[in-house]
Amino acid sequence: MDIFEKCYKFTRAKETIEAGIYPYFVPLSGNDGPVVQMDGHEVIMVGSNNYLGLTHDPRVVEAAIEATRKYGTSCSGSRFLNGTLDLHIELESRISEFYNREAALIFSTGYMSNLGSIATLVDRNDCILIDKSDHASIYAGVLSASGARIKRYLHNDMKSLEKVIAELPDDSAKIIISDGVFSMEGDIVKLDELVKVAKKYHARVYLDEAHGLGVLGEHGRGSAEYFGLEADIDLIMSTFSKSLASLGGFLTGPQAVIDYIKHKASPLIFSAAPTPAATATVIKTLEIIQNEPEHTQRLQVISQKMRKEFKSLGFNIGVSKDTPIIPIYIGDDEKTFLFWRRLFDNGVFANAVISPAVPPDEALIRTSFMSTHSDDHLEKVLTIFEKVAKELGII
Ligand SMILES: Cc1ncc(COP(=O)(O)O)c(C=O)c1O
Repeated sequence: MDIFEKCYKFTRAKETIEAGIYPYFVPLSGNDGPVVQMDGHEVIMVGSNNYLGLTHDPRVVEAAIEATRKYGTSCSGSRFLNGTLDLHIELESRISEFYNREAALIFSTGYMSNLGSIATLVDRNDCILIDKSDHASIYAGVLSASGARIKRYLHNDMKSLEKVIAELPDDSAKIIISDGVFSMEGDIVKLDELVKVAKKYHARVYLDEAHGLGVLGEHGRGSAEYFGLEADIDLIMSTFSKSLASLGGFLTGPQAVIDYIKHKASPLIFSAAPTPAATATVIKTLEIIQNEPEHTQRLQVISQKMRKEFKSLGFNIGVSKDTPIIPIYIGDDEKTFLFWRRLFDNGVFANAVISPAVPPDEALIRTSFMSTHSDDHLEKVLTIFEKVAKELGII
């Protein structure tokens, strides 16, 4: 027996590359935001999470450069020991103010924020309730919470949540963890119903606002603001890698919970701190989101327009609602790859998504939009989608 045997047998990626329809790891050689250079092509990008287009805002770029000049390129260590900057503390206090919480804690990625927070907070005998479609980083946290009772409920199905929570012992400590916006389906958690169940069964609520921050709500605070339920959410997690145009993530909530996680979470203690540039970027983008609501407003207009247009062209966009994530369901993996390739050849990059990111036979092309897409970009995208889909008999 050889531990490498499974690697030698893994040929699927190679076969797809040879067939010319491999949609992953395509190198970018230039990036202007809505238009990118990829593999020798100039394409309109509708596969990025740069929802507010802030990665190229000159004020943001300048903030990153200035921080690099002042603090260097790396923190060279963990937050716990030598790696905490005054910038980290400033950002934590800005995040907790933005969300009107007692405290916040930043991590080096969104994935680590979920992994570290959940695995630390949930103990043996505690109960976790998760949506089947929750993000992989929530699963990573849940699976690292050793000894906890894990219950999955059907996607965004609050009857299913109530059914599983009712089976748990009354006196067990419970937490419901959900994405605010589901990253592949593009739908929003039914938070009003979820909160009712949480109150009835005395469960805490943990919300991942990775795709809600900057996107939903009048002030861009996400799905809890969208529902007017911010006061009913115990913990809010999000990432810097989407609307905030950087790299990193955070958890915000009660001071005691944040202090506890800060002193016990392995991914925080044993990994290097977010870089000065990444941190200064978020201080600036958060300021822009707070002072210039027009970016979020434009994104919301684009999201409605594209959803309506895709629907009227006859695409199956599933249950996606009010978000810039619009999935185009194809079903079959090969056909999805082929559709992706033809889109690419015609000048559009979108994401091909297959199992396990979505259930088997629900392969899709994930489109996601930015406030910096011009009307002309959007018209071109629709024309190319219609042309390719007709050629392949998808619409
Ligand atoms: C819902 C959700 N949570 C967490 C993450 C992880 O964030 P990051 O990319 O910052 O690690 C993502 C990223 O794709 C996400 O979609």
